[in-house]
Amino acid sequence: MVSNEKKDAKYNELLKKKIAKLKKKRNAVIIVHNYQRDEIQEIADISGDSLALSQAAVRTDAEVIVFCGVQFMAESASILNPDKKVLLPVTEAGCPLADMITPEKLRAKKRQHPQAAVVCYVNSSAEVKAESDIACTSSNAVEVVRSLKEKQVIFVPDKNLGRYVQKQVPEKEIILWEGFCPTHIRVQEEDIKKAKLAHPKAEVIAHPECNPEVLALSDHICSTGGMFKYVKNSNSNEFIISTENGMLYKLRKDNPGKEFYLPTPHLVCANMKLITLGWVAHSLEEMVYEIKVSGEIRDKAKKTLERMLSVTGEKSGTTISGY
Ligand code: 13P
Repeated sequence: MVSNEKKDAKYNELLKKKIAKLKKKRNAVIIVHNYQRDEIQEIADISGDSLALSQAAVRTDAEVIVFCGVQFMAESASILNPDKKVLLPVTEAGCPLADMITPEKLRAKKRQHPQAAVVCYVNSSAEVKAESDIACTSSNAVEVVRSLKEKQVIFVPDKNLGRYVQKQVPEKEIILWEGFCPTHIRVQEEDIKKAKLAHPKAEVIAHPECNPEVLALSDHICSTGGMFKYVKNSNSNEFIISTENGMLYKLRKDNPGKEFYLPTPHLVCANMKLITLGWVAHSLEEMVYEIKVSGEIRDKAKKTLERMLSVTGEKSGTTISGY
């Protein structure tokens, strides 16, 4: 009897071969966020954090971008690449945090604070980006806010990242939005305390979307791309990783001598995990589902993203996998 695991592995190998062939035929590049399933990370041409992926989308000369991430990421790739076909293999792969703000509500907030600059986290829709002055990711939010001439800043939609930025940039007055990532807020202060007791030598690394109590117990706070760099340069051999579990794939692969622990098993983004090898093959075969932003929304959102890229320059956490 062949075990189910063996059957799955064989099936995955067949799908990977099919994807490789289709990718050549379509002149496509596969761009993958660090939270994707292990087998999707294995087929990545480019993987990284949100900033690195935006930068990669600008640089690629492929005709088709298959975006293995969530809706707002594919949207940003389309905004920055109007001449390319951007495909999201599963249209339902959304971001609940991005859905916690609408352009109407943001316009109302702007009317209350007419002097304030608007910074939107990239985890937002194209319409919200179009209403904002500049975008940011978790790896450049502090730098972006510091670069502004305005003292008052409306920061949307993640309140935890906004609070973290406020601590780093006390000279600004940050007006927070009540949005949060449903995955990151699952880590509680108690989880970190327990994990530290179980692994007293481990360093705690947290994503800034975590609750402030979790961040207060962390040794280092950074984007997913920043975590790879930090771990590589650290003398520690053990790490408690407070972010989505997809991160463990590359952390373990790149650091075979080091140990990684999650503070809770609940750090899983269901949206990120919707994309499977089967859906990637289907996407390339049928050329679906195209994500396209056009007209005035695209022009305005593009300026918002480009302003961010001009502040950040070419610093990036991209990994070219050469699949
Ligand atoms: P990074 O930019 O750190 O990869 O974060 C992406 C994200 O959506 C976190 O929820």
